[in-house]
Amino acid sequence: MPRLKHYIDSTPFTKEELMHIINLSLTLKKCIKNGYYPQLLTNKTLGMIFEQSSTRTRISFETAMEQLGGHAQYLAPGHIQMGAHENLVDTATVVSRLVDIVMARVNRHESVEIFAKHSSVPVINAMSNYNHPTQELGDVTTMIEHLPPSKKLEECKVAFVGDATQVCVSLGFITTKLGMNYVQFGPAGYQIPDDRMKIMQDNCEKSGGSVFITENVDEALKDADFVYTDVWYGLYDDERSEDECKEIFYPKYQVTDAMMKKAAPHAKFMHCLPASRGMEVTDEVLDAPYSIAVDEAENRLTTIRGLLVYFMESVKGDAAVVEQAKKELSELLATI
Ligand code: CP
Repeated sequence: MPRLKHYIDSTPFTKEELMHIINLSLTLKKCIKNGYYPQLLTNKTLGMIFEQSSTRTRISFETAMEQLGGHAQYLAPGHIQMGAHENLVDTATVVSRLVDIVMARVNRHESVEIFAKHSSVPVINAMSNYNHPTQELGDVTTMIEHLPPSKKLEECKVAFVGDATQVCVSLGFITTKLGMNYVQFGPAGYQIPDDRMKIMQDNCEKSGGSVFITENVDEALKDADFVYTDVWYGLYDDERSEDECKEIFYPKYQVTDAMMKKAAPHAKFMHCLPASRGMEVTDEVLDAPYSIAVDEAENRLTTIRGLLVYFMESVKGDAAVVEQAKKELSELLATI
């Protein structure tokens, strides 16, 4: 039974709660891969608010709802009144009376926090300019599926290469929460901000994990089990052009096969996608047998199923009221 109503950030969740969602996700995946679709979300409706475009997240939420017996409504800008004739608070108050659960991809993190505050149903953050918590869960699930032989999750090192995007920050939040070892290899000015590092360091104190930032490739990649990168441009609040980003990160922070050879021999390459091929990662790496980026994309669906079930299971009606309502309904129908 979840203690928290919303999933805006993994930070307030315990390691046990996050692992519970991951284990639930893996079991649901096993069921569905083998042709059994547990109808755990029958008659439930998900409202999907998107201020930004999406491939993996949108499809995963819609597919998950369908597979589990529910339904999803795509609410893009221009499809609903939010931001035009209706403010965020009024939208949250009303939308949450019309659906059973909401997911929101927003331009500003504050928007999803305000939405959750005024929502009467669970709200899932489907990416903001601060973090990407549904990506975090899919990433760790993929690591579990690709653990190096005879290594536990807590023994693994994850090296993030490049800009401190919201995906980089989110990955740092969950890996340190779960007791893993996390490093960002990125240039000064594009490193994890102090307030987010503090959260990761606090996590490490409790979990026994570790976190550091370096500009030294050998130090970052040494013994890394997973090497991860994200795009350099096209993100929130980003006025930088493609050429300006290339100037900052290329060639030092491009993941190449030569860079992968600095990691552990069994190291896997990960990317949240979409990728800018030839920029933050070469074709050779993204398409290599050691790349698990497509498994990672599939596990967005895996863990979104788990998240939806986890949150909807906590919203149960009053059985006595249901019995009384059934009796009244049957009496009313008999008189038509
Ligand atoms: N990784 C991810 O969030 O992909 P989309 O932007 O396509 O949803």
